[in-house]
Amino acid sequence: MATIIGGITTSHVPAIGRAIARNLQADPYFKPFFDGFPPIHDWLATAKPDVAVVIYNDHGLNFFLDKMPTFAVGAAPEYRNADEGWGIPVVPPFRGEQGLSWHLIESLIGEDFDLTTCQEMLVDHAFTLPMALLWPGTEAWPVKVVPVCINTVQFPLPSAARVYKLGEAIGRAIRSWDADQRVVVIGTGGLSHQLDGERAGFINKDFDLKFMDSLLSDPTWATKYSITDLVELTGTQGVELLMWLATRGALGEQVRQVHRNYHIPISNTAAGTLALECR
Ligand code: DHB
Ligand code: FE
Repeated sequence: MATIIGGITTSHVPAIGRAIARNLQADPYFKPFFDGFPPIHDWLATAKPDVAVVIYNDHGLNFFLDKMPTFAVGAAPEYRNADEGWGIPVVPPFRGEQGLSWHLIESLIGEDFDLTTCQEMLVDHAFTLPMALLWPGTEAWPVKVVPVCINTVQFPLPSAARVYKLGEAIGRAIRSWDADQRVVVIGTGGLSHQLDGERAGFINKDFDLKFMDSLLSDPTWATKYSITDLVELTGTQGVELLMWLATRGALGEQVRQVHRNYHIPISNTAAGTLALECR
């Protein structure tokens, strides 16, 4: 059976992609964020995952407002990136792990989660930037992937409690996949940020730090909040923290912190990173 080695959650601000393209990792503005990754690189080098299940939200590259699934899972042999207009170079394609995709889809639908199944899927900055942060300078990605997309773009959004349950079901599905494979779960988005409207630039450091702590000490803590509470507490795009909750749900009860980092701001976003190892 497959093993979940752990989970990594991180922000996916497009400015990070521009910084990578211009080699600005040591620039004083970006360094406090990029410094969060070398300990995670060391852990990945030892833990050696074969597959990454990447939980993220698409921002209009693959799904647009006319058709917006709440939950979508990729089942493609390959996932390509495309230009979203940020001035970030397009990254090489990702190889899909179709065996795990179909096992995940069958397990989740078997547990009454209504999914959209995508046999073709473009992946946007929310997928590509965390991969570039975790495996920098890669010509060919060292893991196969399964994209899991959660709508945080167009209301109504799934509740935090439901997303946590989806994560738990993803964990059960991976652990029951009949393959001798090591799987890392990656969740991308957040932390607090609001890109538009009256509260543009809104950041809530106190909540973000409590949320990061809760993933170790009391993982379902944030599931008591409604989506409107979370928008109020973290900003309209801060609600991307749902991806962190799904990831934590997949990891099971016992986790150990590998590393964490929190830095304000990258662009207009509170940028957090957390790596947890399953025990
Ligand atoms: C921006 C875009 C994002 O998707 C995000 O999560 C944070 C910031 C931006 O446009 O700056
Ligand atoms: Fe985003």
